[in-house]
Amino acid sequence: MSSRKFFVGGNWKMNGNKESLEELMTTLNTASLNDETEVVCGAPSIYLDFARSNLDARIGVAAQNCYKVAKGAFTGEICPAMIKDCGADWVILGHSERRHVFGESDELIGEKVAHALESDLSVIACVGEKLEEREAGTTDEVVFAQTQVIAENVKDWGMVVLAYEPVWAIGTGVTATPEQAQEVHEKLRAWLRTNVSEEVADTLRIIYGGSVTGANCKELASQEDVDGFLVGGASLKPEFVDIINARA
Ligand code: 13P
Repeated sequence: MSSRKFFVGGNWKMNGNKESLEELMTTLNTASLNDETEVVCGAPSIYLDFARSNLDARIGVAAQNCYKVAKGAFTGEICPAMIKDCGADWVILGHSERRHVFGESDELIGEKVAHALESDLSVIACVGEKLEEREAGTTDEVVFAQTQVIAENVKDWGMVVLAYEPVWAIGTGVTATPEQAQEVHEKLRAWLRTNVSEEVADTLRIIYGGSVTGANCKELASQEDVDGFLVGGASLKPEFVDIINARA
């Protein structure tokens, strides 16, 4: 197994309320969590403060999106400095729902990545192909192109985690097989070796997202290039603890 620290992110998306999230956070705070695993919860922006003040310090907090500049007349947007002001250290950028529901382009995602990192906010950067792209045999092309735009905007790779989230596996209950996940993760690492550096290829955490559950996490986690998970639905349930402990 690699020396990369296992990383498990929960992406709550637009779910929950104070009551249900407080219950979830109490479950996480009182659970026995593998301290070899870095854990981060992605809260809706309006609950960032609430999440930070309710979660144990050993659990990080992430925003699910942010804008590409520091301030100004951008009604409805939030900036990295606001996220940091709420005590959160991470932001999820380039999520497939941002790309495909809200039409965010590679270029915009790249600008957001650059500004978040400049603002000292760590980034969970997401890439992944749609079903028709996989079926057309263009998975590699799609994820390499998305990763390229992210890479052009990263100076400090120590502040980045790369999430491979095949769109066809998100919220569908159709999980990539361990072999499918490993294949893409291995190719992404090889791409990083050629296009960024040996060091980044060896150290960057590449995590998998898409219908990860307590039942399938151990086998996925046993893959050489799977360094953790980004979890949607199951991150709102007590089984998130089992996913955090997938390598225990
Ligand atoms: P699900 O785990 O619900 O498939 O969502 C994955 C995801 O989009 C995490 O960011």
